[in-house]
Amino acid sequence: MKPIVVVGSINMDLVSRTERIPHAGETILGADFQLHSGGKGANQAAAVARIGHPSILLGATGNDIFGEQLRRTLAGYGVQTEHIASVPGASGTASIVVDARGENTIIVTPGANLAVTQEYLQGKIDVLRGAGMVLVQLEIPIETVAWLVECCDKMGVPVMLDPAPACKLPEALLAKLTWFTPNETEAGFYADGAENADEALSRLFAFGMEHVILKQSSKGALIASHSGERCYADAFKVDAVDSTAAGDAFNGAFAVALMRGMSVHESARFAAAAAAISVTRAGAQPSLATEEETQAFLSVHTDMHSLRQNPSF
Ligand code: RIB
Repeated sequence: MKPIVVVGSINMDLVSRTERIPHAGETILGADFQLHSGGKGANQAAAVARIGHPSILLGATGNDIFGEQLRRTLAGYGVQTEHIASVPGASGTASIVVDARGENTIIVTPGANLAVTQEYLQGKIDVLRGAGMVLVQLEIPIETVAWLVECCDKMGVPVMLDPAPACKLPEALLAKLTWFTPNETEAGFYADGAENADEALSRLFAFGMEHVILKQSSKGALIASHSGERCYADAFKVDAVDSTAAGDAFNGAFAVALMRGMSVHESARFAAAAAAISVTRAGAQPSLATEEETQAFLSVHTDMHSLRQNPSF
């Protein structure tokens, strides 16, 4: 079984829970503070490993108090961490505020994630070549992402890009993606001016990418292919505690399901379940579901989830 290789950020999440998100210039009191292992790259690698698929993370931590702890936690989830670089200076951090509805705001300070350069990845070519799929996000330098996508395209390795946080990307990069997985805010950024999901999809497909997953948080996800296939996975209804890393849980689980040969619509249902479980728990990596938990969830939530599908997809 080929591993899924994730190239991305590793952050320590500094999480304050508050009744509501403060306005600019306002000080409010928080109810609780916790440190959790996070970072979109690390979360996706942990999501893959928790479901039981071989997961290799390429990234960097600092030589500060968080670096060793972040690697240890990832290894504990089953992620292969031996390729992670340790660089002088601070590890990546994310200052997160979670409100009473489980919604969050996040500020990422990249720190060591900026050391995930093309030169670093050039030393990991064999790892990339052996990947069944590569998952990447935008919390590492954009030039690195562009080089990675080009390199995977040449080697015939499919790439799933989670465009978070949204920023301008070279069109040549977007054209080579197998999967592009924006949430609603990010889709609005890349499909500027689109009035609805159909319009957003046609603008995104004009870039040349193969598949788009439009993640619509508590509503669900629309999965579409360049050749016109569509399916929609409604989100499972759960009591939300913390939505942090729900998108990462979805991407990791979706990639594993595809690698196992499940159809796109079955993969979307599996991923929606993994994401729903993560929303019911606090923190990024601590919230990620195992295979057993995801299957158990699916077996009791059959009637609460509708999957509208194109039968061929
Ligand atoms: O997707 C959630 C993640 O975004 C958090 O863990 C935080 O570190 C930021 O990268």
